[in-house]
Amino acid sequence: MAKVYGILGDIHANIDALSVVVDDAASQGVTDWICTGDIVGYNACPSECIRAVRDVLKAPVVCGNHDYYVAYEQNLADFHPAAAQAVLWTREHISADEMDWLRSLPMTKPVMGMTLVHATMDMPDHWGYIFDDLQAASHFVYQKTPLCFHGHTHVPVVYEKTAFGAMHHDPRQFEGGEFRVLPGRQYFINVGSVGQPRDGDPRASYVIFDTASRTVRFCRLPHDVASAQARDRAAGLPERCAARLEVGN
Ligand SMILES: [Fe+2]
Repeated sequence: MAKVYGILGDIHANIDALSVVVDDAASQGVTDWICTGDIVGYNACPSECIRAVRDVLKAPVVCGNHDYYVAYEQNLADFHPAAAQAVLWTREHISADEMDWLRSLPMTKPVMGMTLVHATMDMPDHWGYIFDDLQAASHFVYQKTPLCFHGHTHVPVVYEKTAFGAMHHDPRQFEGGEFRVLPGRQYFINVGSVGQPRDGDPRASYVIFDTASRTVRFCRLPHDVASAQARDRAAGLPERCAARLEVGN
């Protein structure tokens, strides 16, 4: 049966951005949801975002690095100080039930012939960042499905497997933000970030995949940045978490 998937990730506890995405998806005929992880971290509404993804969207979810570091109380030496401070804050502001749910999230997940991962398939729990074709080529060694969706860098992009490795496509070059998945090809698609974009565009990012037309559409939506910033500041989170939302980095 054909489905229209809304695929989103790196929500980062930004309920203002998530609400706008969910409303937009309803108007675009989305029937099912998929989440590429990092539901919590950086911003002030982790419980609200967990409940939305888990209970309302009922999305299959993979674990993001912020979800993992909140859930497992790992050493935060590798984190930026502001990110680490937000992880510590989040640990104190979600319920035991929500913490258990974060701990239940898998590193990778198959969904209807697709694969989900937060970072890369070669070492999902090493949280490697893919910023170029060479790094994407390493990932493709381990991608077995035609489509794999991910996040982590907060930058929307499509990597396509080639005979010599991988090549990237900038979604801003797609007419109407949309491209067609071709048979026999493999794609590794970064859906961008709902709650903290880092491509210089502060609008929330997510993707719609229509299994009937085989089209992937990249969507960007303005949202109430001032509201999210006010929540962050009222919560006492680091100023960097609020400030970066208006510049998209
Ligand atoms: Fe993230």
